[in-house]
Amino acid sequence: MTLTLAQVGAEAARCTKCGLANGRTQVVFGMGSPDADLMFVGEGPGAEEDKQGLPFVGRSGKLLDRLMAEEIGMTRDQCYIANVVKCRPPDNRDPKPEEVAACRPWLESQIRLIAPRVIVSLGNFSSKLLLDTTTGITKLRGQSYPLPDADAVLIPTFHPAAVLRGGGLQEAQMRSDLVRARLAMAP
Ligand code: URA
Ligand code: SF4
Repeated sequence: MTLTLAQVGAEAARCTKCGLANGRTQVVFGMGSPDADLMFVGEGPGAEEDKQGLPFVGRSGKLLDRLMAEEIGMTRDQCYIANVVKCRPPDNRDPKPEEVAACRPWLESQIRLIAPRVIVSLGNFSSKLLLDTTTGITKLRGQSYPLPDADAVLIPTFHPAAVLRGGGLQEAQMRSDLVRARLAMAP
């Protein structure tokens, strides 16, 4: 029997497959439309996300919402937003390889069940993982990559936290990546 996205989310909410389970307030599975054409994938929940149980609800999320509205004309309810790891790494450290490996089936289920046409990976972490490469985001971004397994295209862009730190050029580049995502969704 195939589970629905909501049923998979309910299972994930009890997950203890890696050590990140110990430090979390709650699992941040993801949010948005279960049949979205567009999916965003970040790194992992921060403090605010851990508190609210929702992805990208802090400063980075506000920027993501704004750029999504301005360049794609969409709200977060019309797409789907998730992270590579579903539980907050302590002190916002990078997730460890074994944590990413343990959590990966949840993201794979989300991609399979939502079946988006376009996936925008936010930052180095999710971009390298989904493209199975060690190449950095600055080189990867600016084009789209077919994902044969998912029947989708992947469009890597900067993490909004990097845009908040980096300023104008990075924001302009992220905007152009989001335009690319919009055009890739157009029939
Ligand atoms: N950064 C991420 O990568 N994900 C979030 O959900 C919030 C901030
Ligand atoms: Fe499970 Fe992922 Fe949380 Fe680890 S990070 S406990 S694998 S949901």
